[in-house]
Amino acid sequence: MSSSDVTWGVAGCGEGGVFGLSLAGRIVGAGAQNAGMDLAGLTAVVTGGAKGIGAGIAERLVAAGMHVVIADLDENAGVATAARIGGSFVRADVATTAGVRAAIDTARRRPGRIGVLVNNAGGVEGPGFPAAGPAEWEHTLDLNLRAVMLATQLVLAPMAGHGGGVIINVSCSFAACSGRVAVAGRASSRSPL
Ligand SMILES: NC(=O)c1ccc[n+]([C@@H]2O[C@H](COP(=O)([O-])OP(=O)(O)OC[C@H]3O[C@@H](n4cnc5c(N)ncnc54)[C@H](O)[C@@H]3O)[C@@H](O)[C@H]2O)c1
Repeated sequence: MSSSDVTWGVAGCGEGGVFGLSLAGRIVGAGAQNAGMDLAGLTAVVTGGAKGIGAGIAERLVAAGMHVVIADLDENAGVATAARIGGSFVRADVATTAGVRAAIDTARRRPGRIGVLVNNAGGVEGPGFPAAGPAEWEHTLDLNLRAVMLATQLVLAPMAGHGGGVIINVSCSFAACSGRVAVAGRASSRSPL
């Protein structure tokens, strides 16, 4: 097994909702190798899974038989969502190295191996470009790009060594809009995904 045994998918979001994901019991269409992978008994990590799109993905993965670890900043919503869907919650700021490590470490302590990572937490807080200052800009890059790279790095070897897995990066349709100043923060931090 090598890292090529891990399927990469990019889920996009736009006015039509999430596209590129179908999680009705199996991973379908997220990539060639692991399409049809049986998810039952495996562990999934969903960053930003306390609410919104991440909570919806987490719920679908639980329905597919996975144990889902929701890693989110929002403890109240995270605890409530985990209780509602039957998953677990870890408070983690994935814009930080410690937060990403906490998320993945929590998942690795589960009995089932990590089969799915959903890098869902993201967005732009505060003013967009060009009003954003360096600290805000760093935070956008840390959340939208660095967190995805670090979480992927931490799960890649265990996934590849144990039968493969699926990594889904929730991106943004603005990632394709690199020429538009108004969305430059989102576009430049997400186009690498
Ligand atoms: N909703 C849309 O129309 C839309 C459009 C384009 C892209 N997206 C992308 O889809 C993803 C989910 O969007 P949503 O609308 O469900 O968002 P949301 O605001 O409803 O939920 C985001 C979740 O991420 C958590 N979060 C934020 N920063 C975090 C951090 N540093 N560490 C851990 N958790 C953090 C929040 O607490 C929240 O629970 C995001 O990546 C977003 O950029 C959404």
